[in-house]
Amino acid sequence: MASAVKRIGVLTSGGDSPGMNAAVRAVVRTAMFRGIDVIGIRRGWNGLISGDVLRMDAQSVAHIINRGGTILYTARSDEFRTEAGQKKAVATCKLLGIDGVVAIGGDGTFRGCLALSKHGIFVVGIPGTIDNDIGCTHYSIGYDTAANTAIEAIDRLRDTMQSHERCSVVEVMGHRAGNLALYVGIATGATVVLVPEHQWDFKKDVAERIRAARLNNHTHFMIIVAEGAFNDDAIMKNPGSGNMVAQMIRDELGIEPRVTVLGHIQRGGAPNARDRVTATRMGYWAVECLAAGKTNRVVCHQGGTICDMDMDEALAVPHALNASEDRVLEAMIGSER
Ligand code: F6P
Repeated sequence: MASAVKRIGVLTSGGDSPGMNAAVRAVVRTAMFRGIDVIGIRRGWNGLISGDVLRMDAQSVAHIINRGGTILYTARSDEFRTEAGQKKAVATCKLLGIDGVVAIGGDGTFRGCLALSKHGIFVVGIPGTIDNDIGCTHYSIGYDTAANTAIEAIDRLRDTMQSHERCSVVEVMGHRAGNLALYVGIATGATVVLVPEHQWDFKKDVAERIRAARLNNHTHFMIIVAEGAFNDDAIMKNPGSGNMVAQMIRDELGIEPRVTVLGHIQRGGAPNARDRVTATRMGYWAVECLAAGKTNRVVCHQGGTICDMDMDEALAVPHALNASEDRVLEAMIGSER
């Protein structure tokens, strides 16, 4: 069947994540398979505004499926939030004959897509963020690789914390979401996990947990703190949620925690199998949507399958923790009486 689009652009936007390159590769190769021209747009929406583009073919995406980061670079674009910026982006599309755009990023990226679609450009979003905080999809590209990076680091920390019988406070990324912290907390058998989605109480949920563990003859403690755990941007920036919890532990329990802020290491590294395959499936699906004349869609991973959803509906789905994981962690931690 003839494709509804003849030339598409592809871009990466927001915080990068391992697997974005695999998604870009799949978009290019699927488009070529369907006889559609592909234009790479560098630096997110800024690239569309400034015309920072390059033609892409199989050679452009050779040997990138296993590479972290994004060969198209990424950026957050304030200018694209303005009508003037959007008009410039549309002008680039018209000049280059781009009739469809695949945008890989978080929900902020999808809001950019909606702006573009108002000017008649077909758009499809692919969820790519290590936070996995996009409500419409159970999975966003980069999440599992980022989790494994954090888990490997925490396993190493556990060795030395055990040797010295210390308390380790580890701050993980996630922005204002606790999905990554929850998943990593289960995988590392943490003593405590603090996430912004729960109203936690320091004395009950931290101090008493550590005391119970100590009374059960544990002599080292692993405290996982989501960077947004306090739901307070000021604390997130300074002193940082991990340091804040460590100070509270120091004051209440009289012990000297060691703080590790994993930071941007969680964003890098070679994507694992789950991210490479999910990204490839999502990139393929996005191009198939455009070829079929669908627009304003977000590619989702729901119940193990890849599907697509209306973008307005997708953006209206509130972010939430994985409920079953949340219950499991409560039992794992709560069993320490
Ligand atoms: O959204 C992904 C993310 O890594 C968040 O977890 C984190 O808070 C943010 O990006 C950091 O942004 P930047 O890379 O601009 O410092």
